[in-house]
Amino acid sequence: MHKTKILIIEGDPAAARDIERTLSSLGYSTSSLIADKKPTLSLVKKHKPDLVLLDIVLEKARRGIDLARNIRDGLDIPVIFIAPTADKRTLRMAQRAEPFGYLLKPLEEKTLEFAVKMSLARHATEKMFKERAARIFEESEKRYRQLVDNISEGIIIQDKNGIITSANEKFLGMIGYKREEVIGRPVTELLGEGWLRKEEGPKAGAEEDRWKSVELAWKRKDGKSIYTILSRKPIYDVKGRFSGSVAVLTDITDRREVEMELRRSHEELRSLSLHLESIREKESKRIAGEIHDQLGQQLTALKIDLSWLANRIPPLEEGGKEILEKIGSMSDLMDKTIQTVQKISAELRPVLLDDLGLVPAIEWLAQDFENRTKIKCRLQLCCDNVALTPDCSTAIFRISQEALTNVARHARATRVDINLREQNGALVLKISDNGKGIMEDKIYSPSSLGLMGMRERIRPFGGELQITGMPRKGTTLSVTLPLETKQK
Ligand SMILES: Nc1ncnc2c1ncn2[C@@H]1O[C@H](COP(=O)(O)OP(=O)(O)OP(=O)(O)O)[C@@H](O)[C@H]1O
Ligand SMILES: [Mg+2]
Repeated sequence: MHKTKILIIEGDPAAARDIERTLSSLGYSTSSLIADKKPTLSLVKKHKPDLVLLDIVLEKARRGIDLARNIRDGLDIPVIFIAPTADKRTLRMAQRAEPFGYLLKPLEEKTLEFAVKMSLARHATEKMFKERAARIFEESEKRYRQLVDNISEGIIIQDKNGIITSANEKFLGMIGYKREEVIGRPVTELLGEGWLRKEEGPKAGAEEDRWKSVELAWKRKDGKSIYTILSRKPIYDVKGRFSGSVAVLTDITDRREVEMELRRSHEELRSLSLHLESIREKESKRIAGEIHDQLGQQLTALKIDLSWLANRIPPLEEGGKEILEKIGSMSDLMDKTIQTVQKISAELRPVLLDDLGLVPAIEWLAQDFENRTKIKCRLQLCCDNVALTPDCSTAIFRISQEALTNVARHARATRVDINLREQNGALVLKISDNGKGIMEDKIYSPSSLGLMGMRERIRPFGGELQITGMPRKGTTLSVTLPLETKQK
């Protein structure tokens, strides 16, 4: 059976022998180190004792106490101090080494026996508790690992300098590195090019104690890129100081690719629609011009011919009266036809817009609207000094046209206000009616193609369209168009 081994570190060889004798008689195996040989930790280790009795005055007290602490912490061996005195200073220092006992010289056999037994028993109990705690810790660590490794999101823990201290299997799979290639590396080294922004530096997320999400690209070991949503929360130590962060990563590479594809085709559709719109506008302009110039002129020529004829009819008594009446009604019809042609031409594309600009064109539009619908139109157009490009004027004009058509068709209004002005470096068009008010769900409904068309018209110029409605109070549509460089 293993005999309990006690190491005596004593300055006085005679005292050491005394203690040895006592302990041997109690059935312990003993050995002594004489203090003037400067006992070191490795010397103590060689003896493999179960307990150390240490004379703390043998060296300078502090050295003895330091040695005791190392024996206890480093070798997990209990230490009993033997001291000639119990002066306050030595006691205070000794306390810090947390000895298992403190015996005063000269040693009494019973006291020594009691202290040795108590220390050994206490150490055994402590060891048992420590082992149990270690087992519990190990099991919980295992469970934690299993949980963290089987989770469908990547998880990493960073220290306060942004160094990865822990990573789960999922993250390793995402990034294509082995655990040992990732642990100890700064997160920033693994990020995709151009993704290293300030907030991703070592102190990322240090300020706010809450989950914060960012989109990040990472460079895999095989050079491919992956995209993730990273949600991060800071970790604080017991004193409340920032000590790093835990981050959960969701792989969104596939989703992002689909999104990019969607965005691309969306952009393509958008530019196609713009292109078609501009073709339609050019075509309208051309046809309007032809109707106005060609057809209008030809009709006018016909009208002149008619009056020429009227002047050359035979005397009235020879049937000339009837011919004259016929010519009169033909001339009236001709006037109406000329008006219709002008109207069609103007509706297609008002010549005013090209010749005189936006303000006269809107004035004409409002007048025409009022004549047709009997809805009163109040105008406040104060942007004479604003120079707009033809495309931009066309967009504003077409939006006004569509807005007025909507008022006539849906609003049941009795009055419309059109306001065009320059405000804070932008052109602002406001069209409000006093009708029933647009319903909230219509404003962004995918079936509201007219409204969507207005938004699309203004988008290339960096403009914005806002629509608000109040039940029974009316609808207001406002377009804001930056006047600086954006115009095409
Ligand atoms: N001034 C308004 N007052 C009340 N409701 C409105 C007004 N303007 C639009 N709306 C509502 O918003 C809907 C969408 O308008 P939008 O111009 O997009 O389509 P639409 O006029 O019905 O058809 P179109 O495609 O021919 O323009 C309308 O159907 C109408 O219900
Ligand atoms: Mg409409």
